Amino acid sequence: MVRRVIPLVAQTAPLPVPMHAVGEAPGPLHDQLQRPLRDLRISVTDRCNFRCSYCMPKEVFNKDYPYLPHSALLSFEEIARLARLFVAQGVRKIRLTGGEPLLRKNIEVLVAQLAALRTPDGAPLDLTLTTNGSLLARKAASLKAAGLNRVTVSLDGLDDTVFRRMNDVDFPVADVLHGIDAAQRAGLGPIKVNMVVKRGTNEQEIVPMARHFRGTGVVLRFIEYMDVGATNGWRMDEVLPSAEVVQRLSAELPLVALDPSAPGETAERWGYADGSGEIGVISSVTQAFCHDCNRARLSTEGQVYLCLFASRGHDLRGLLRGGASDADITQAIAGIWQQRSDRYSQLRGAGMLAPREKRIEMSYIGG
Ligand code: GTP
Ligand code: 5AD
Ligand code: SF4
Ligand code: SF4
Repeated sequence: MVRRVIPLVAQTAPLPVPMHAVGEAPGPLHDQLQRPLRDLRISVTDRCNFRCSYCMPKEVFNKDYPYLPHSALLSFEEIARLARLFVAQGVRKIRLTGGEPLLRKNIEVLVAQLAALRTPDGAPLDLTLTTNGSLLARKAASLKAAGLNRVTVSLDGLDDTVFRRMNDVDFPVADVLHGIDAAQRAGLGPIKVNMVVKRGTNEQEIVPMARHFRGTGVVLRFIEYMDVGATNGWRMDEVLPSAEVVQRLSAELPLVALDPSAPGETAERWGYADGSGEIGVISSVTQAFCHDCNRARLSTEGQVYLCLFASRGHDLRGLLRGGASDADITQAIAGIWQQRSDRYSQLRGAGMLAPREKRIEMSYIGG
């Protein structure tokens, strides 16, 4: 038997944390490509109860995989403190991710702490969470009560056999559908459903998924299978370009193009011509959207990553646990964002990427 040796995720030293911002912080920040900081995605665990092959393939994420020890994880208080300092510098949307964020014990406590944050103008944040839906039926009401605004559920097909194969732990699709219903009843909308499309695996689910969610208020989004991480064995011939998704759908359900609802959005929006709802396509492989990417990512262990395809992050946990003041951390966040020039998908699309270090995994940093 050939055994693959999997190094620890953080095999390389973190990037240095700049301790000086350019100009006066806090305030709206811009990076080297003039992109503002708007969206903070916080990963609360690197574990998941699914083993989707495009994200946590079973042969790698097995019982020997070196998940982070509990002491490495940021506490809720540490996360909330960092989130507050990010919000003071322009963040308007916070997404909790994982792994599977609902596996983190007492996640509602963190939700409540984040829901209490206000922008400098006194407005609440757009507070959302990405989940595989497996625990949602149980948790929807308490998440809503804690102050969560909405959820996005990952679901790669309606056919039970296809879905069980994709999650690779034999999890039934009916339970995720119950979770989506519970979220709708709890008022966690507008609910989005994210479907990663792999050519040859679940492409036959595109039209049934659209028919199922049309007219329900749920926004279904089709995601191109991406070359994130280093373990999923990505191949271009398994990518089904969004243009083809739109073509296949419009042959059955006529679509009209919609305007973007916010700058820097991941999804291109389409509406059903009969007014029965909208869908989105996320085309990071065939049509990179780096030019206005306003997303920063905070890992479970407190490193800031500036791109989904980065290899290293900037360690804020060291600052937190070393007794840094709010002003120090604010300066660090500002300096990190101001130095940023990442645009991986755009460069890959243009064939301009040099070989580089091993990239982080999606299960470590979230979607
Ligand atoms: P909404 O505010 O609900 O529209 O969320 P969103 O689309 O900003 O975030 P979501 O986490 O739902 O993103 C959907 C998928 O798009 C993710 O699972 C990723 O596959 C992909 N994605 C999100 N952000 C990025 C990004 O910055 N770069 C790339 N390449 N892909 C991204
Ligand atoms: N390609 C595209 N999206 C991915 N996700 C995870 N791995 C990939 C990949 N290789 C996204 C999916 C999932 C979310 C948690 O992360 O959207 O719903
Ligand atoms: Fe878990 Fe989501 Fe990754 Fe699937 S895509 S293994 S549900 S984190
Ligand atoms: Fe942003 Fe990196 Fe994704 Fe481009 S590839 S959109 S820079 S996260």
